[in-house]
Amino acid sequence: MRHLMKPLDFSVEELEQLFDLADDIQKNRAKYAHACDGKILATCFYEPSTRTRLSFESAMLSLGGQVLGFASADSSSAAKGESVADTIRTVSCFADICAMRHPKEGAPMVAASKSRIPVINAGDGGHEHPTQTLTDLLTIRTLKGRLNNFTIGFCGDLKFGRTVHSLVHALMRYDNIRFVFISPEELRIPSYVREELKDQNIPFEEVIDLEAAIGDLDLLYMTRVQRERFFNEEDYVRLKDFYILTKAKMKKARPDMLVLHPLPRVNEISVEVDDDPRAVYFDQVQYGRYVRMALILTLLEIQV
Ligand code: CP
Repeated sequence: MRHLMKPLDFSVEELEQLFDLADDIQKNRAKYAHACDGKILATCFYEPSTRTRLSFESAMLSLGGQVLGFASADSSSAAKGESVADTIRTVSCFADICAMRHPKEGAPMVAASKSRIPVINAGDGGHEHPTQTLTDLLTIRTLKGRLNNFTIGFCGDLKFGRTVHSLVHALMRYDNIRFVFISPEELRIPSYVREELKDQNIPFEEVIDLEAAIGDLDLLYMTRVQRERFFNEEDYVRLKDFYILTKAKMKKARPDMLVLHPLPRVNEISVEVDDDPRAVYFDQVQYGRYVRMALILTLLEIQV
């Protein structure tokens, strides 16, 4: 039995197979409409979500399966003090596969160690968000036609942004990727990620000025400042609008630079940018559904 805790749990070759499967699902929806007949997905979300939870549920329903679960810790027995380990033992009796989001880093890993069904990390604290990375990679592969040979800028909250950590880890395995980390000093990419890049001789730079950096990028990955991970509101208020991507800034970008964002967006991308054909953050949402369908089939070892 396999779980998905982090993007590196799948080899590059396995990811290619997963993305090929997602492509096939997108092109041949009817072929997969009953692939999960009789199967149940549990979504155990201890933290708020729109895209991840609903795309998992939509993915399982589109495969002919059914879904159950909870959307907040308050509506589960976690509110009475039940542990994640006991919860997954219970969920294992009711479902065939589980997607879990938790504010504590490592909680889905604890669940996986006690589970009788595959567990998918749907985001754990400021740590990892592997299925967002699958979404991001499929989007880039589809729209750019490759997962190598580009310069990618990550902009915003690189300290707490789990989608950033997971995507950097995933991209480290592809050839000729250059990273540009754009953040205020307080929200720099964690030192352990910098050390990993240095150890592998992968080029990266850290800058503060988005406008100065944007013209060199093939991809710009914007992120929101993660209010829920701040220790005090004052720091959040000071940093929340540090970056706002506007039409004026987009004029300095290459004509084929793509703007990605895991969403939700707060203020960091002006809505005036949404109509720019380079803004693909709502396309990402659609790819997220297909790649989660492929992931469910892969972890349940269902071949169509
Ligand atoms: N990208 C993402 O994780 O969005 P949600 O928090 O809405 O699930």
